[in-house]
Amino acid sequence: METNTHLFSKLTVKSVELRNRIGIPPMCQYSCQDGLLNDWHLGHYGLRAAGGFGLIIIEATAVCPEGRITPGDAGIWSDAHIEPLARTVLFIESQGAVPGIQIAHAGRKASAALPWKGGAHLDNANGGWNIVAPSPIAFGGDLGKVPHELTIEEITRIQADFVAGARRALQAGCKWLEIHSAHGYLSHEFLSPLSNKRTDRYGGSFENRIRFLLETTQAIRAVWPEHLPFTIRLSCTDWVDGGWDLEQTVALCRILRLEGVDLIDCSTGGGVATANIPVGPNFQVSFADRVRRDCGLLTAAVGLITEPAQADQIIRSGQADMVLIGRESLRDPNWPLRAARSLGCPEQMPPPPQYARVW
Ligand SMILES: Cc1cc2nc3c(=O)[nH]c(=O)nc-3n(C[C@H](O)[C@H](O)[C@H](O)COP(=O)(O)O)c2cc1C
Repeated sequence: METNTHLFSKLTVKSVELRNRIGIPPMCQYSCQDGLLNDWHLGHYGLRAAGGFGLIIIEATAVCPEGRITPGDAGIWSDAHIEPLARTVLFIESQGAVPGIQIAHAGRKASAALPWKGGAHLDNANGGWNIVAPSPIAFGGDLGKVPHELTIEEITRIQADFVAGARRALQAGCKWLEIHSAHGYLSHEFLSPLSNKRTDRYGGSFENRIRFLLETTQAIRAVWPEHLPFTIRLSCTDWVDGGWDLEQTVALCRILRLEGVDLIDCSTGGGVATANIPVGPNFQVSFADRVRRDCGLLTAAVGLITEPAQADQIIRSGQADMVLIGRESLRDPNWPLRAARSLGCPEQMPPPPQYARVW
């Protein structure tokens, strides 16, 4: 069904207004030392804010050092992380984009080398660390370390780390919070029966497997202001029989809505190395559509959305409330400026005055 809403319609979520429906999904830059953002991040995110994106979700930012995917990941486990983050956040905002952040724990996929150094698990002797997960099952392939099975006390500790991370993100000026519960990282590991074999209250039944995320959501909700968007990224399916799937996602999202979650960022996969994923343009859009229709939540669609007309159609057809442009935004930081021109509505997306004469 066509609607009057289009790619350049504003989107209001709580008290935050996005200038358009185009966001950048979280994308690790693996360029921090000790989790601290630096000039790379200021330039990288700043350029894309100037390029017209409505929302910029800063990369997976670890709530504790062991929760980093690689030693170069961003972190938010200490007050020292606030000021460098605030610098990037302020600049994003000065360019008219809304600054968001994804807070994360990498679970059994932590302690890996930088992608451009192969991405395999690092031995502790080579800068790696001991990893943790719901169950002591290795991810496999290059990520062969066997994680330590979290105790209840350790689970509680990590949940407190998420809460502290959310508080610090707020102090740094972030206006949009996303919990990372996708791609085979810790929270997703709890959700999926393939990685969660626990027999206590955090494993087994659907109610038990969602408990980690649900409790974390509730605890963060208590410190994250009501007036700011509170969102979660999910892998809506493992793409593997017997794994986490869309029906469980829908059941979970109905509960999350009641907990005050505003939007679901609908991704898939990442939990099973051998999964057969039908990757192609729009391959995850139907998940955003289903969650939006059946759960009464806003959704973001992501995954191989590269063309302006393609993105516009997703919004006009009401399949999602916004689109996130990942790799294509790495190729073209001015994607929204270009999209407005190719869709014949340049007035919707004026360039920054410094660039006005060339657009
Ligand atoms: C370099 C890179 C880093 C990424 N880092 C993250 C991340 O920090 N958190 C996350 O949830 N997804 C991450 N992703 C996945 C993207 O957010 C996105 O879901 C994925 O690239 C699919 O969208 P695309 O086809 O538009 O690139 C990353 C992807 C890339 C290419």
